[in-house]
Amino acid sequence: MSENQKRIRIAVFASGNGSNARKINEHFSHHPVIEIALIVCNDPEAGVLKIASEQHIPTLLIEKNRFREEGYLSFLQEKKIDFIVLAGFLWKAPPCLTRAYQGRIVNIHPALLPSYGGKGMYGMAVHRAVIEHGEKKSGITIHFADDAYDHGKIIFQKQIDVVENETPETLAEKIHILEHNWYSKVIEKMILDSEK
Ligand code: GRF
Repeated sequence: MSENQKRIRIAVFASGNGSNARKINEHFSHHPVIEIALIVCNDPEAGVLKIASEQHIPTLLIEKNRFREEGYLSFLQEKKIDFIVLAGFLWKAPPCLTRAYQGRIVNIHPALLPSYGGKGMYGMAVHRAVIEHGEKKSGITIHFADDAYDHGKIIFQKQIDVVENETPETLAEKIHILEHNWYSKVIEKMILDSEK
């Protein structure tokens, strides 16, 4: 990379344990072009904030009304954020944000969209529904995000089998492994392709 090459800055939005955020940070920690510049979180108690502090990544704690009204867009632009990665972020992104970052905001969902997505479909609720419906496959979906829950063009899916005697807990574990294996790689490819 030439000294003048612009670095590409990602903000990771996460409100939970942050295991995906951790993997993403690790993946890009020595990347020649891409860096994780900010962790955005709406819960002061979220595990992801501890990870951000361990990994020395600046954080922004957000508040619901301002997020709904202007999506912290001015702040993100001021920090020169190029891409937004949603990794366990439960609030719906407002239209002003998804429009400004159209094609540059991605989400991961722990099932094969368009099935088992939408409002209330997060965490164990997703895996419970998959098992209750007797599905033989589940998996992960990485997609561009728009202002509807779990909606937007699909970039990548990976399937796994739902085995006999599967429980929501065992399925969640398998899905998390898939997420950790794939999310960073898919983000990297999407960003580098979009810069071509
Ligand atoms: C992941 O399962 C992801 O698919 C969903 O939220 C969960 C976040 O898990 N969007 P973690 O906080 O990264 O462990």
